[in-house]
Amino acid sequence: MRTLVKNGSVISATGITEHDVLCVDNKIVAMYETGTDALGEISADTVIDAAGKYVVPGGIDVHTHMELPFGGTFASDTFETGTIAAAHGGTTTIIDFAVQTYGENVRECLDRWFAKAEGQCAIDYAFHMILGGIDDAALKEMDTLVDEGITSFKLFMAYPGVFYSDDGQILRAMQKASENGAMICMHAENGIAIDVLAEQAVARGQTDPKYHGIVRHPAFEGEATNRAIQLALVAGAPVYFVHLSASEALEAVARARNEGRNVFAETCPQYLYLNLEDHLGAPGFEGAKYVASPPLRTKHHHHHADLWQGLRTNDLAVVSTDHCPFCMKDQKELGLEDFRAIPNGIPGVEHRMELIYQGVVMGELTLPRWVETCSTTPARMFGLYGQKGVIAPGADADIVVFDPKAKHTISHKTAHMNTDYSAYEGIEIDGGVDTVISKGKVIIADGDYHGTKGDGAYLRRGLSQYLV
Ligand code: URP
Ligand code: ZN
Ligand code: ZN
Repeated sequence: MRTLVKNGSVISATGITEHDVLCVDNKIVAMYETGTDALGEISADTVIDAAGKYVVPGGIDVHTHMELPFGGTFASDTFETGTIAAAHGGTTTIIDFAVQTYGENVRECLDRWFAKAEGQCAIDYAFHMILGGIDDAALKEMDTLVDEGITSFKLFMAYPGVFYSDDGQILRAMQKASENGAMICMHAENGIAIDVLAEQAVARGQTDPKYHGIVRHPAFEGEATNRAIQLALVAGAPVYFVHLSASEALEAVARARNEGRNVFAETCPQYLYLNLEDHLGAPGFEGAKYVASPPLRTKHHHHHADLWQGLRTNDLAVVSTDHCPFCMKDQKELGLEDFRAIPNGIPGVEHRMELIYQGVVMGELTLPRWVETCSTTPARMFGLYGQKGVIAPGADADIVVFDPKAKHTISHKTAHMNTDYSAYEGIEIDGGVDTVISKGKVIIADGDYHGTKGDGAYLRRGLSQYLV
């Protein structure tokens, strides 16, 4: 099967070139300067004319939660629905979080995650492992999992009693990571302090969704980020902060990076586009749509501008979605009387590429930086680069043709995620995904999905390519 993508502008992390890209079966095999095949001698079964369009490596979303159990319910996208939605948005690889809570057998939890995903995915997928606390058994499994291609572990400084690790546990996991080369992914919020403020707020009758954001003070994210950076220093380990939202946390990351530390961070579209006052603070129970942790931040604290700047300076290296969808009906509604019972998470896997492309339109990012933060660095950070994250001979033929002239308005009615609302309803988008090729097969064309359930394969990952 030969597929030729012709006449497009190929965007890479390092620049823009005019090339035709030839794929044979699931791989990119050659790139020709556009126009050098004037006689049309390069044969192909499928020819895609990308004239006037961008040809970019398939997006890699390193932070999703398909079917995550949370607060007595499950995230509403399965691996099937969530990966089809991702494909519509130009994402061709996800790294999902397999979940272990304290006391559970890590291996059994991981096997459960394999069983959920196997044969279901529209695009390739890999796993990080959430460790809900650290004991000797978990430390031992960290070595085995790294050998098996699960090379990153998420720990939580939040959610006491559910996923929480104390500082001693975090230090032990970081020491292990410094030995075996794993990446520690950190949810940095001071959960013990947050729970005190949450209890006090509810006792005062402050039960609306917006209090979720008020009690999760940005200083608690800044403090936890600083603390994790110091623990990583002592352990000699790298640390990657997931879903960074607060300027206070970004300052801590920037300071550590200026000192030459292996400290990395991602942010998510919700922290660039949504805020506490208008969204989380919307009248009635509407704000529940936007309950996630860390919470949306206030627009008065320059968070949005700081985050775009962080993406330019590389203090924020990656954009992921933290896709964690719950419907309003029967799910978010669990917290009608008490914001603490609202399942935490926002749906977004479908919109990441186009929302971050608006950064290019607004002059916040260059085209190569868009590709770097949404595909190339995610691949390098989590041991997939070469196979993923780049358009080059030898790489998987995961290619998105993106039309800069397209326009649409985000709406729940036209999106494909399994939710009953969109967090980005009404946002006008310049540009749009035109065609998506996953391992040489056109899976999205003219807005329709043409793939087959189970096309996506599990990816064993190497170590992060950012560690020295
Ligand atoms: O609110 C969120 N982010 N839900 C998913 C779990 C997590 O902490 O990433
Ligand atoms: Zn988290
Ligand atoms: Zn998450």
